[in-house]
Amino acid sequence: MNTKSRYEDLKQQIHFHNHRYHVLDAPVISDLEFDRLLNELKGIEAEHPDWVTDDSPTRRAGAKPADRFDKVTHPAPILSLANAFGADDARGWFERVSRIDDRVERARFVVEPKIDGLSVVLHYRDGVFVQGATRGNGEIGEDITGNLRTVRSIPLRIPVDEKVPKPPKYLVVRGEAFMPIKEFEELNRRLEEAGQRTYLNPRNTAAGALRQLDPALTASRPLTLLVYQIIHSEDGKVPTSQWEVLKYLKDLGFPVTDIARQFDDFEKATAYTESWDKKRDELHYEADGMVIKIDDLRLASELGFVGKDPRGAIAFKFPAREVTTTLQDIRVNVGRTGVLIPNAVLEPVEIGGVIVERATLHNFDYIAEKDIRVGDRVLVKRAGEVIPYVIGPVVAARKGKEKKYKPPTTCPTCGQPVERFEDEVAWYCVNAACPAQLIRNVEHFVSRGAMDIVGLGIKIVHKLIETGKVKDVADIYTLKRADILEAVTKKERKTEKEPPGKIADNLLASIETSKSRSLARLITALGIRGVGEVSAGDLASRFADLDALSKAKAADLEQIDGIGPSVAESVAEWFARPVNKNVVKKLKAAGVWPQGGQSSVSSKQSDKLGGLTFVITGTLPTFSRDNAKEFIESHGGKVTDSVSKKTSYLVLGEAPGSKYEKAKSLGVKIIGEDELKKLAR
Ligand code: IVH
Repeated sequence: MNTKSRYEDLKQQIHFHNHRYHVLDAPVISDLEFDRLLNELKGIEAEHPDWVTDDSPTRRAGAKPADRFDKVTHPAPILSLANAFGADDARGWFERVSRIDDRVERARFVVEPKIDGLSVVLHYRDGVFVQGATRGNGEIGEDITGNLRTVRSIPLRIPVDEKVPKPPKYLVVRGEAFMPIKEFEELNRRLEEAGQRTYLNPRNTAAGALRQLDPALTASRPLTLLVYQIIHSEDGKVPTSQWEVLKYLKDLGFPVTDIARQFDDFEKATAYTESWDKKRDELHYEADGMVIKIDDLRLASELGFVGKDPRGAIAFKFPAREVTTTLQDIRVNVGRTGVLIPNAVLEPVEIGGVIVERATLHNFDYIAEKDIRVGDRVLVKRAGEVIPYVIGPVVAARKGKEKKYKPPTTCPTCGQPVERFEDEVAWYCVNAACPAQLIRNVEHFVSRGAMDIVGLGIKIVHKLIETGKVKDVADIYTLKRADILEAVTKKERKTEKEPPGKIADNLLASIETSKSRSLARLITALGIRGVGEVSAGDLASRFADLDALSKAKAADLEQIDGIGPSVAESVAEWFARPVNKNVVKKLKAAGVWPQGGQSSVSSKQSDKLGGLTFVITGTLPTFSRDNAKEFIESHGGKVTDSVSKKTSYLVLGEAPGSKYEKAKSLGVKIIGEDELKKLAR
């Protein structure tokens, strides 16, 4: 294959895998293999810059910041929807439109989620993504192409699958961009730990990320979208029913909701819509209702508009999850990095079927800016699984007895004075021996993204700290069976299904397993202020081990891509503290000493599994999926998703999937977690 064809082939492959990962959530290659393809592509582009076109996957990285957004005139109006509140209101709509055109009575309907995000309009010329815009006033929007390009679920070229027929020469589609709830919470957690301002809700965060001038910033925000409408097409046919449109868009490679349904009568559509009110927390994004659409798009458009609202569809809004209640008190928690977090103690109140007694107040500046006083009636919002938050006070309801709030000057747990760092909104307890911090530190150290010590739950951690068995994170590695038994038996055992001995043995095994975690994970686990998984990866790929990292000066660290001055400072400071020096020494002595320098994913332990291919199915006793994969890769093995004749071993856990049957039928060797560990010994 010549270089040019290889280049085209690589682009297609990357589009394919990108789609598998970001749209279908079903990758067929590892991240490492994906990076390899991308690097090869980058290499070719470096030699042939003139080949690079708009649909190159490398164009997803944030482009240069813009001075302003250009205006884009939409090829057709970007309409909004009239609202219905409740089933009767929706029936009212159905009757009104039926009176206008009696075909509506016999019409089919499509019900889709109404995503609480930001409407975006995507233009494709000859299948290539060439422009993306905000809705603006419905006629003219802003050109945010550079920002949208960084959203991985937006295909840069359609159809993603070459077997699907080509779409019209010019196709304009509309979708809703949003930030998934989990990602939003994770982002806020990181911001909180870094002492930065947190965001109010996923919608504002997504809107902010798309409507700012620096695409690199958008790229750092985990945005995605769901597409639901064809706005315009030229030179080519598109479907004329909404149900077919959704299917068509999906086939082209766009992300499309999987909870849309088609109904042959209006009542069934309404019943389905209502069923989602109760289930809305199951969605991974915020939905403020469902949209009921007349399936026949010709009929829908013939019905015309009322103002900007087409008659052919209605937004069925869920009841708002905002209520007022009394703010009884403000309590302050100490986070892992010592950050002080104010929390609202509320008079218990029901919001959408859940009793809410606590809500976040973000930070002390927020309380001051909103002038939130203890005793105030406050407006509280709960959406999806997001932690409820206080929107603000109801000033009109004040009686005069409400008290202005003063942030604490000492740590509520250890009583030491608190401090504020430059450029941060948060206050910190800087006492390394603060017990509240030790608990958070250990919890973080053992958590999934860090050393992932399965079985070391919050209750056991508390007991181990209480009994003085764990005074710092390194003590985990010198725990004796008896120490764990003591902690396990001290907690209420009623809820435990397993005998204490078994719990202790499993825990000891997973502590042992955690020793083979990568340097990146260990650095993450240390909980250095401002160092999350990404910076930890950057550091791990530059240093051989913790000793090497501990010797680096802030000025050296700042030279590393992705490490800013405040993180550099914070890392250097962390390693300079005598207590932390001791932790590092103890970790080394306990054999928790991963090597870095080459790969930030996993450090190579051996090549015992070199040349072998593994498939994992079911739940393993101590390894999570990620850990098992990391373990195999750290010993030179390869993990794939599907069983074939080339699979060397199937690693079998509890409740396996169809891979088990397939492996049996192909005669693939089947092993358990223990045997896997033995193979690597
Ligand atoms: S249909 C004629 N479908 O909700 C088509 N809108 O006021 C009009 N939205 O501005 C829009 N999910 O931004 C439609 N599945 C969905 C939607 C949806 C979210 C937004 C859209 C629109 C607003 C309704």
